[in-house]
Amino acid sequence: MNAYDAERIGELLEAEGMVAEGIEGADVVVLNTCHIREKAAEKVYSDIGRLRARDGGAPRIVVAGCVAQAEGAEVLRRAPAVDVVVGPQAYHRLPELLKGHRMVDTDMPVVPKFDALPTRRRSVGTNAFLTVQEGCDKFCTFCVVPYTRGGEVSRPVGAVLAEARALADAGARELTLLGQNVNAYHGDEDGGGTLDLAGLIRRVAQVPGIARIRYTTSHPRDMTQALIDAHREVPQLMPYLHLPVQAGSDPLLRRMNRAHTRDSYMAQIADIQHQVPGIAISGDFIVGFPGETDADFDATLSLVREVGYAQAYSFKYSPRPGTPAATMAGQVPEDVKDARLAELQRVIGEGAIAFNRASVGKTCDVLFERAGRRPGQLIGKSPWLQSVFVSDASLKIGDIAQVELVDAQPNSLEGRLVTLAQAA
Ligand code: 5AD
Ligand code: SF4
Repeated sequence: MNAYDAERIGELLEAEGMVAEGIEGADVVVLNTCHIREKAAEKVYSDIGRLRARDGGAPRIVVAGCVAQAEGAEVLRRAPAVDVVVGPQAYHRLPELLKGHRMVDTDMPVVPKFDALPTRRRSVGTNAFLTVQEGCDKFCTFCVVPYTRGGEVSRPVGAVLAEARALADAGARELTLLGQNVNAYHGDEDGGGTLDLAGLIRRVAQVPGIARIRYTTSHPRDMTQALIDAHREVPQLMPYLHLPVQAGSDPLLRRMNRAHTRDSYMAQIADIQHQVPGIAISGDFIVGFPGETDADFDATLSLVREVGYAQAYSFKYSPRPGTPAATMAGQVPEDVKDARLAELQRVIGEGAIAFNRASVGKTCDVLFERAGRRPGQLIGKSPWLQSVFVSDASLKIGDIAQVELVDAQPNSLEGRLVTLAQAA
């Protein structure tokens, strides 16, 4: 979502007559920041230090994003070189804020923000992000999102479809619908009534030029039968589901306030795998949550093995100021977190290789996104989000081709062109 926001900030400032020409000579630099873990949040202060010491003098520095939201005026106190602090829901006001000095704006007018952004999207690659929902009401005890992005807000259906058309005009063939809790989407329709995510996906599928649709991130509590039906019935919707579970032990899930159990999650996954055979499952995991015992951690490892993830993301628990878990007893030492993360990533990696190996011999559509390292080689994505490289002089970026998967590496697959399905 930060990548999406950064694109929109760029478009907004271009519409004001500013030109993006690289960081060296820039008069204004916008640092779009992340607050989800401490490491990401600290990065901004080292970036500010580097910019301040830039040859030829410091630019005006804007701190945008969730660090700006969480720390507000504190950023100005801690970093005197910063000129503007603007939260993730107020960046449409940047042109106005840049007229002043030492400005802070951490209001949260989500829908007016989107309304104020340029309607046209500048040229994008074959894949584009489209934010349809922001914020979260779930309050997992480790997470800052409900505080930094605010409560759940869905963009109206008409606005999403207009942007989907603008992205298709700008060259996108695949859209990833974004939301912190995207499967809780419920957007107003022009004529009254609301659409859920499944309904929205069916509408986006009708936008000319959009060949593929993905969405992320979903919460287990908000998976609906309608969304599973969409996976079976909408050919453009790719067979891939990112459904974070975070941990495999019930006492831990309870303290995380996840509102689901290991069994409820496993039953859900089994049901989805049964209804949508072959769907790729992905997830997020946290190791070293306060009070995590060896037995809790083993439960996470066994869950990973049972689900058979195509891929998954894993993180060391990072205490975030103001969240309940930050002050819980039983904070886990760093060396234990390191060891558990390494072990979990090894098991996740084994699963990913097994998933890739099981794909060898299949023929599937690949959307080609970029040039590969070798001459004449293109890299694209399978429906299951695997990177597939093919060497064939007749292919170009943006093509969708039927490809036979002939060999598996840990992070990619080699394919052989069968036939062109849809030219770019
Ligand atoms: N520490 C570590 N990981 C976190 N995540 C969210 N908050 C934290 C935290 N405090 C992870 C979760 C979430 C993903 C986006 O980031 O796994 O799903
Ligand atoms: Fe954070 Fe996701 Fe939990 Fe919301 S559902 S609080 S965004 S981890």
